[in-house]
Amino acid sequence: MVKRKADIGVVGLGVMGWNLILNMTDHGFMVSLYNRTREKVDEFIHGPGKGTTIIAARSIEEMVSCLKRPRKVMLMVRSGKPVDDLIKRLIPLLQRGDLVIDGGNSHFQDTIRRAESLNQRGLLYVGAGISGGEEGARRGPSIMPGGSAGAWPLIREIFQSIAARTADGLPCCEWIGGNGAGHYVKMVHNGIEYAEMQAIGEAYTLLQEGLEFDHERMSRIFERWNRTELKSYLLEITADILQSREDDGTPILENILDVAGQKGTGSWSCMSSLELGVPITAIAEAVYARFLSALKDQRAKGSRVLKGPGGKWVEGRRDMGEIRSSLLANRVICYGQGFALMREAEKAYGWKLDLGRIALVWRKGCIIQCALLDRMKEAFDRAPDLPVLFLDPFFSRMLSMHQASWRRVVCRATESGIPVPALSAGLSIYDGYRHARSPANLIQAQRDYFGAHEYERVDQPRGKFFHTNWKEKRRSHAKAQSSRK
Ligand SMILES: NC(=O)c1ccc[n+]([C@@H]2O[C@H](COP(=O)([O-])OP(=O)(O)OC[C@H]3O[C@@H](n4cnc5c(N)ncnc54)[C@H](OP(=O)(O)O)[C@@H]3O)[C@@H](O)[C@H]2O)c1
Repeated sequence: MVKRKADIGVVGLGVMGWNLILNMTDHGFMVSLYNRTREKVDEFIHGPGKGTTIIAARSIEEMVSCLKRPRKVMLMVRSGKPVDDLIKRLIPLLQRGDLVIDGGNSHFQDTIRRAESLNQRGLLYVGAGISGGEEGARRGPSIMPGGSAGAWPLIREIFQSIAARTADGLPCCEWIGGNGAGHYVKMVHNGIEYAEMQAIGEAYTLLQEGLEFDHERMSRIFERWNRTELKSYLLEITADILQSREDDGTPILENILDVAGQKGTGSWSCMSSLELGVPITAIAEAVYARFLSALKDQRAKGSRVLKGPGGKWVEGRRDMGEIRSSLLANRVICYGQGFALMREAEKAYGWKLDLGRIALVWRKGCIIQCALLDRMKEAFDRAPDLPVLFLDPFFSRMLSMHQASWRRVVCRATESGIPVPALSAGLSIYDGYRHARSPANLIQAQRDYFGAHEYERVDQPRGKFFHTNWKEKRRSHAKAQSSRK
């Protein structure tokens, strides 16, 4: 009897691989799996994998031999060296037209390098960003694949079947673009995730430290906000977290050490923004806030020796609505900056990114899913070349409507000595965009003064540069003034 061959091979039985395999099996795909540590395979195959069609291979060779042609092998392992090592082992086992998919959080430049190397050997390569954590992987993640164009027809059915689906039935998985594009978009997704989490953290501090609300009340507020246009997955889980108690009734949250972990994707977004010259300040402040959180001992010392404003936040009637407004406005800024970064990256790396489609892919299954994403898609439909989201009429109106409240929240937080780095960075960039004239004329003058770096003039065409002998100009001006007296 001819044995049925598997549709896809998956390497890695971490949280993600484990759940994605079960998700694929639920959707009728046959999976051949391999994991370095055999015990984990046994645990899986005698546990949730029992009685399924999943093939538990004892070696990577066996896993590949069980696959239908062209073979599709998906790596769900720790990013970095394990991915390179596994690719090296796979190459001799694969043939022209076979496909390797990296579903981990790899750096997009590594993905470009790996894709080019495999493409030269006639193999296809896809870097697929996957978001949604354990629950998403099991029930439907958001998937962002990019790489060899010929690979999409080979994986489309599997990926769109296992992906989350929105209420209108669309799968949260679309082809993103060429080599590295999928992992780049996932990196920006994570950057926005950092910014959103930080802004919610700041709202929590304002409610707890500023307004002295208890967990019950804060949870109710977040739940209420989550029934408005501010609705998001992160807001929803925050309300749940605030409701969760230890056995003795104390909120679990208060027993968690205030030092935030990170795996690098937020910093990668910042590094890319520095390379491409795109301000993503709301995201960057969130990354720095995590660094500051890690300086626990210095903060403990600072809390004893650094003086604060002394005054306390006095609860006002409008506080709640104003904090909600600042979260909403800040969301527009951090998504806007994330999309602007992708806009620049597509030029630098030769991709063609459909930002509206990316907004749709993020509507469900992923960590940053929120109610505004449909509006973002509409904004990019209105103006496919929109340079930054907050110049769209819907979003600029929204910012105009909420800016006064946002401003008051940042002012009151500052006056009360409560740090709001993300909310204030968002507000500053908003004000930056409102200023047709910036202080960069002075910066250019200073650069020309100390380094003869030259400057362009407002009364001359762009690209024409001028230098001034500043000391000489100042001397002659002083002389002219004294002769006038
Ligand atoms: N966890 C999440 O919420 C999440 C969400 C999105 C994306 N991701 C990304 O998805 C990928 C998988 O994440 P994960 O959380 O499921 O697992 P993980 O903890 O990042 O990695 C565990 C898997 O990697 C394998 N592995 C590690 N080093 C290896 C090596 N040198 N050679 C072969 N295999 C090796 C492990 O095998 P052994 O069992 O033998 O140790 C295990 O199967 C990562 O890139 C992660 O960043 C994770």
